[in-house]
Amino acid sequence: MSVNSAAEDGLDWFYTDTVKSHFFNPQNIITNDKDEHDFARRASGVGQVGSPQCGDVMKVWIVVRENRIAECKWKTFGCASAIASTSMMSVIVTEKGGMHIDDALMLRPVGILSRLGGLPAIKVHCSVLGDQALRAAIEDYRSKI
Ligand code: FES
Repeated sequence: MSVNSAAEDGLDWFYTDTVKSHFFNPQNIITNDKDEHDFARRASGVGQVGSPQCGDVMKVWIVVRENRIAECKWKTFGCASAIASTSMMSVIVTEKGGMHIDDALMLRPVGILSRLGGLPAIKVHCSVLGDQALRAAIEDYRSKI
């Protein structure tokens, strides 16, 4: 096997410009303890999941107003693909006045991936963390109302 084995193995490591944009400038990310503490205090729900494939963790907080996701913040110890996917997820659920929570529960990685222009096949498992944590946050919200 040569050092240039990715293509020979059928693995495509191409990242779209949209993926790179969200990775280098992630939207709605929480990057420090103070912001996490402040947002957690006013969040309507929180969800956390871990990836069985890689062990990385994703945490998502939501603010719900009139059954719509008004705000969505997140943090992760995941990779670039998880960051880009969850950044896009947070944009999708908060754009246009916020997605109704019933619709947000239906959001799946394919919808996020289509907005990103895809991910390398080997990284698709990273894209499931954001929507899984989102669903957990919505369930947490619903358990409190
Ligand atoms: Fe763990 Fe991507 S490798 S989230």
